[in-house]
Amino acid sequence: MTEPVRLLHLEDAELDHALVVAHLRRSGLALQERRVDTREQFALALQQPWDLVISDYHLPGFSGLDALRLLRAHEARTHTGPVPFILVSGQIGEDTAVEAMRNGASDYLLKNNLSRLAVAAEAALASAASHRARQRADRELAESRRQLSALAQHLQTSVETERHAIAREIHDDVGGTLTALKFELDWIRRHSGEPAVKQRAAAALESVTQAIGASQRIMQNLRPAILEQGLVAALQWLTQRFESRTGIGCRLRLPDAASGPLPSLPAGVPLVAYRTVQEALTNVGKHAAATRVVVDLALTGGVLSLEISDNGRGLASADLAKASSFGIRGLRERAATVGGWIDLSSGEGRGTSLILSVPLDGGLPPPRPPSGLDAEEAEWTTY
Ligand SMILES: Nc1ncnc2c1ncn2[C@@H]1O[C@H](COP(=O)(O)OP(=O)(O)O)[C@@H](O)[C@H]1O
Ligand SMILES: [Mg+2]
Repeated sequence: MTEPVRLLHLEDAELDHALVVAHLRRSGLALQERRVDTREQFALALQQPWDLVISDYHLPGFSGLDALRLLRAHEARTHTGPVPFILVSGQIGEDTAVEAMRNGASDYLLKNNLSRLAVAAEAALASAASHRARQRADRELAESRRQLSALAQHLQTSVETERHAIAREIHDDVGGTLTALKFELDWIRRHSGEPAVKQRAAAALESVTQAIGASQRIMQNLRPAILEQGLVAALQWLTQRFESRTGIGCRLRLPDAASGPLPSLPAGVPLVAYRTVQEALTNVGKHAAATRVVVDLALTGGVLSLEISDNGRGLASADLAKASSFGIRGLRERAATVGGWIDLSSGEGRGTSLILSVPLDGGLPPPRPPSGLDAEEAEWTTY
C-alpha cells in the first residue's frame, strides 16, 4: 500500500473542490485532502507537510499566484520542497499561465476541462519525487566526498606522525647501537696484534660506517631533520641536492632580504611546504624532461606561497586523472590540513607550475589564477 497523497486545495467553491477530488480519485489516486479558502488558512496549512497543492486562481482578496509565492517562500525558509503546485482556474489568461510557470507552478488547467487533471497531478508528483531523490543523492555524494577528504587528511597527518616515531626509533636505537659497535670495532682494530683480525675489523668498520650513513639517509627521508634549521635552509638543501642528483638547473628565489626574516610559521606549515617541494621536484625529475626549475618562496598579504615551475613538456588534465597517481592528490589534501590549497597550471611545451598557497592567520587569499581560457591563453590551462 502506498501512502495517500496529501492534497492541499485552495478553493472557495465547495462544488469545485468536490469535482477536483472526484477526478483525482477516479484515476485511482489515494487522497487525503483538505480545502482552505483564505490566505490565513493557507499560510497556516503550510506548517504541515503536503505532497501536492492545487489552487484556484481567483479567490476573494487573494490569488493563485500569491499562494504560489507564499508556498515557495515557506519552502525557502524551511529548506523543504518544492511541493508541486497546479493552478486550476475558471479562466486563465496566457500571461497569467506563463507567469505561474515561471514562478515554479507545475501545470495549469481550466475548470471546464479537468480531464487532464489526474495525468498532470501524477506527472507533477513523479517529477517532485525524482527531484527529491536527486537532492538526496547530491547530499549523500557531498557528504561522502567530505568524509573521504577528512580521511585522506587524517592519513596524511598520521603518516607524518608515524614517520616521526620511526625516525626517532632509528636514531635512538639503531643509531646508538651502530655507533657503539663502531667504537668497539675500532678498538679491536687498534689493539689486535693479528694482521688478519686487524683487516677483518677494518672491513667490519667500513660496513658499520655504511650502515650509519644509510640509517641517516633513511631518517632524513622519514623526517627531514634539516627542517629544524628552518624552511629556508631546508629548501636550500632540497634544491641543491636535486640539482646535483639530476643535473637539472634548480634555482631558489627567496623573499627580499630587505623585507626581513620570514615570520615564524604555524605548526605543520613548514613540513607541508617541504613535502610539496619534494614531490614537485620528484615529478619534474620523473615526468617533465625539463632543463630548468625555479622554486619561488614568497610572502605577500599574509599568504605564504611556494611556486615550483619547470620548463618541461607540461601536463594535461588526463595526467591528473590517472587512477594510480596520488602525488598531486596527496599534496592537495596535505595543503588542506593547514588551510591551504594547490594550484596547477600548464601548457603543452610551456612547462608546469605548481603553487602552494597558505594564508597565515588573518591573511587574505591572493587572487586565484583565471580558470577560464581566452584566445591568447588557449594553450595555458589552469587545473
Ligand atoms: N612537472 C611535471 N611535468 C610534466 N608532467 C607532470 C609533472 N608533474 C606531474 N606530471 C604528470 O602528472 C601525473 C600525476 O602526477 P602525480 O600525482 O605526482 O603522480 P605520479 O608522479 O605518481 O605519477 C604524472 O604521472 C605526470 O604524467
Ligand atoms: Mg609524483
